Amino acid sequence: MRDQYERTIEYLRLSVTDRCNLRCRYCMAEAGVAWKSPEEILSYEELERLVRLMVTRLGISHVRLTGGEPLVRQGIVDFARRLRAVPGLRDLSLSTNGLLLAEMAGKLRQAGVDRVNISLDTLRPERFREIARREGLPRVLAGVEAALKAGLEPVKLNCVALGGYNEDEVVDFARLTLDRPLHVRFIELMPLGTEYQWEAWRFVPAEALRRRIEAAFGPLAPGEVRGAGPARYLRIPGAVGTLGFITAMSQHFCADCNRVRLTADGYLNPCLGSMLATDLRAPLRAGAGDGEILRLLTEAISLKPERHQMEDLTRPENRQRRMSGIGG
Ligand code: GTP
Ligand code: 5AD
Ligand code: SF4
Repeated sequence: MRDQYERTIEYLRLSVTDRCNLRCRYCMAEAGVAWKSPEEILSYEELERLVRLMVTRLGISHVRLTGGEPLVRQGIVDFARRLRAVPGLRDLSLSTNGLLLAEMAGKLRQAGVDRVNISLDTLRPERFREIARREGLPRVLAGVEAALKAGLEPVKLNCVALGGYNEDEVVDFARLTLDRPLHVRFIELMPLGTEYQWEAWRFVPAEALRRRIEAAFGPLAPGEVRGAGPARYLRIPGAVGTLGFITAMSQHFCADCNRVRLTADGYLNPCLGSMLATDLRAPLRAGAGDGEILRLLTEAISLKPERHQMEDLTRPENRQRRMSGIGG
């Protein structure tokens, strides 16, 4: 499937719930968000039907389960197993905050999940509590170990760069890659949603983090790791793992974008930075046939904008979008 800018769309980010067991300050308020009611959320049957159509008819080959926190939805392991059985699906992955991974990693692998990306913005327990407003660092670290043990590889760690806050940990994060197959990605903070705190956390370009790492370990070498997202990978010479840089703000990667998003309540969102959303739930529940659903999906994908404009804070969508409902 190609969009109007000749980009091949092959990657679906599927949000299975808007709920989460953390409250990261850059993502949601202490009270959480106005959660969708269970009736608003697509059932696993509805989700599976959409995925099946997108994989078998539209050429989607990668599916990433996201949230909120995907592991808080009951039945997620069985759902993963059902998706795994869809012919043509090459890569089934999951983005998680890791809290429930220690218990679930083995089952997820058995169900056919190929790999996981785990959010981890700090290695210090007190900072974890400040950022996520919950305890949890030891559990997340246990989750990382469980993912490695279960073979959910490559295991990637997602560290959002919070200027003036966790910048001083980049060298500690980089050190994690030296003797273990961990892939640490530094993500530029995107100004999405009303919880975003410009005052507390400055934007820091990934380039500045790279310089800090090179000051400690010397020039980085090219790196490579399986995945299909926007990260660019480097490696400390001799290290087992890699370092990824996701320059969402400083260098748009929109020209190579290969993905669309499906929200938990059944809207196809062609771009993280846009308010465009095609309702698929209403037609699904009104009994639409496959032809009609495929037409809607194709049309929604064709609306994918050329690039995001998240840097423009005067655009209302940049204050209204919520990462938790879109799945990152
Ligand atoms: P793989 O490369 O396949 O492992 O996955 P990924 O890096 O695309 O997925 P992940 O869920 O780990 O996302 C990492 C970060 O990249 C998150 O902060 C996402 O919000 C961000 N990201 C992923 N896709 C896009 C995109 O299309 N646009 C922007 N601006 N950010 C994205
Ligand atoms: N900017 C950058 N990354 C974000 N994430 C959530 N909110 C933001 C934001 N505003 C990250 C999470 C997770 C990934 C899926 O998205 O930390 O690792
Ligand atoms: Fe939950 Fe992820 Fe949002 Fe943190 S960033 S509150 S882990 S959905």
